[in-house]
Amino acid sequence: MESKYGLIAKFQTKRKPSPVIFNNKNGASEPKRISLSNDQTFDKNKNKIKLSMQEQRQRLPIYEKRNKLLELIRRHSTLIILGETGSGKTTQIPQYINSARLQNNGKIAITQPRRVAAISVAIRVAQEIGDGLGVGETVGYTVRFEDVTSPRTKIKYLTDGMLLREAMVDNLLMEYTVIILDEAHERTIHTDVLFGIVKQAQKTREEKKLRPLKILVMSATMDVDHFSEYFNNCQAVYLEGRTYPVNVYYTLTPHEDYQTACVATFFKIHKQAPSNHDVLIFLTGQEEIEAVAQQIRVLARDPDVGGPAVKVCPLYASQPTTQQMAVFQPAPENTRKVIIGTNVAETSITISGVRYVIDSGMVKARTYHPATGLDMLKVQRISQEQSWQRTGRAGREAEGFCYRIYTRSQYESLQKSTIPEIQRANLSTVAIQLLALGIHAVYFDFMDKPLKDSITAAFEQLKLLGAVDGVESKCLTSLGKKMVQFPLDPRFSKIILSASEYGCVEEILSIVALLSGESIFVNAPSKREQAFTARQKFLSPYGDHLTLLNAFRVYNKLSSNNQRSWCHEHYIHMRNISYAAQVRNQLLEICQRLEIPIVSCGNNTDQVRKCLVTGLFTNVAELHKEKQYITVDKRQVVSIHPSSILHGQQPHFVLFTEVVQTAKFWHSKDFQIYGCSTLKIKQ
Ligand code: CDP
Ligand code: MG
Repeated sequence: MESKYGLIAKFQTKRKPSPVIFNNKNGASEPKRISLSNDQTFDKNKNKIKLSMQEQRQRLPIYEKRNKLLELIRRHSTLIILGETGSGKTTQIPQYINSARLQNNGKIAITQPRRVAAISVAIRVAQEIGDGLGVGETVGYTVRFEDVTSPRTKIKYLTDGMLLREAMVDNLLMEYTVIILDEAHERTIHTDVLFGIVKQAQKTREEKKLRPLKILVMSATMDVDHFSEYFNNCQAVYLEGRTYPVNVYYTLTPHEDYQTACVATFFKIHKQAPSNHDVLIFLTGQEEIEAVAQQIRVLARDPDVGGPAVKVCPLYASQPTTQQMAVFQPAPENTRKVIIGTNVAETSITISGVRYVIDSGMVKARTYHPATGLDMLKVQRISQEQSWQRTGRAGREAEGFCYRIYTRSQYESLQKSTIPEIQRANLSTVAIQLLALGIHAVYFDFMDKPLKDSITAAFEQLKLLGAVDGVESKCLTSLGKKMVQFPLDPRFSKIILSASEYGCVEEILSIVALLSGESIFVNAPSKREQAFTARQKFLSPYGDHLTLLNAFRVYNKLSSNNQRSWCHEHYIHMRNISYAAQVRNQLLEICQRLEIPIVSCGNNTDQVRKCLVTGLFTNVAELHKEKQYITVDKRQVVSIHPSSILHGQQPHFVLFTEVVQTAKFWHSKDFQIYGCSTLKIKQ
């Protein structure tokens, strides 16, 4: 087996001095915190007993503390709740509040930074409530392009971005009497903006003697003082969970190729550990996860490898719910489950059975450099805080093991904590949303202020897009007001709004919808050639956007009976393309509401590329040396990603959807552009 890699990660058995226990990490002596300890012991044979859902609920650490917790929630208008991942915060607290009718006649909103978590948790809670109504009734969820709620919904899970959109319609959020800002430590841009909006809504409602708003801020780990201070020195409560020691191992030498090292480490564990000990591997994104999943599947079937059967469960944010739910299913007898996930599995989702964690030490995050204006997804090192969160996943049910694919000194060089997204992202979406609320981002009550340069850069972009008149503007232009109607990055809203001028609304709606989800093309390396041949007829010499459009145009004309087999024949992801069709319908509805004429350019698709430039004008690169492109505005060297139709060709100018900094290796840097179209530029 080892020869198949040519590499085996070597580990130093570095046992952390004492058990890695997270409970008292923030120090119990802090005055503002009340500790609700939990001495319930854990049943080690849990896996053998099939517990009913109600029994499972009662076994959660939070259960015994529910009355004390409810009392605190009743007493305080704002409360910070800290508790280990898996202690029951997200699923139980809204149910406790609902049973105690603390929300009076209002609704309870629970925000999640990721749609995956919002959907899976809502489905779980609907089952737990057990009124037989299913999700969308008492318990519902709202994520971008999908609203599964009814007027009867009392507990609503929603992404932070969706609550922000609701605030744009009603900035006092009157529909809700309790708002739970969950996973607060993640500090997504949306959560950070919501902090300010919800805080202001609570204050205004009190001043105007409207029905009060209760705010709960929840997390598995956070800087309590910083949060408490921001929320007017509010109380914090700490729920002690059960944690077991985790043995931490570092590699002896740095491993450049962390993916292969993860696979090698998995099989090292696989040979030795009992089959009911599951493994959780942290990697960075869909492509990488699917590649590693495939390697593990293939190797696990190899008779030379040995060990029990393996059930591989990929887990990433854009996954369809059904696939995601598979992660929670226990593996069959004598089978090891290996979950290969992104940081979704860090805190948002708890999977039982995990005894081993393999941590690549990497994460994919959106970053923006105000100086270069480059906004991109970048694979980068995690923070120390994240590395301990990942480690903790192994010690939920019994003593566990964490293999870090980095050396101790690499660990020591990691940043202590993650920088809030607001301080490292393109702020144009936030700036435009705040303007819709009548607030200029410079004057907003942020917990941590974004860099002044980022705000200026965002306003400059909005000005170029025509959403504001100047960088000091406190209101939107009429175009800007239309742009905020779309749940999209302002550049894409602008493209849609320009499309009627170019006579290609039909086509642009399809393209923007297709870009809003995961790729519709199946890109399994083993089937690359077959897929290429099958999709040949869609290929456009003008690039990826028109190729996507060609495929979608055919799909859209098929009867629903034929769609599945057509997708299969052409190596197209059925669920991704049908998701794009749903998204398209929603964008179409918004256009109709704005009375935009829905026109088509037919075969004159030059119009489509021209229209794309109206929003993506900063995403243009020019060919310099062979294969080397340089972006025209910020002079960044980039190359065309291999998944692009234009890869291997060398058009003089390309328009691209996105830049990704790939770092398969710790030290390498490679900026690649995804989703490319050729451009002709008149000199
Ligand atoms: O929010 P917190 O991390 O404190 O815990 P939670 O998400 O409320 O999860 C409590 C328990 O419910 C976990 O131990 C999970 O095993 C279980 N759960 C589940 O089985 N299926 C889900 N979709 C969500 C949670
Ligand atoms: Mg949670």
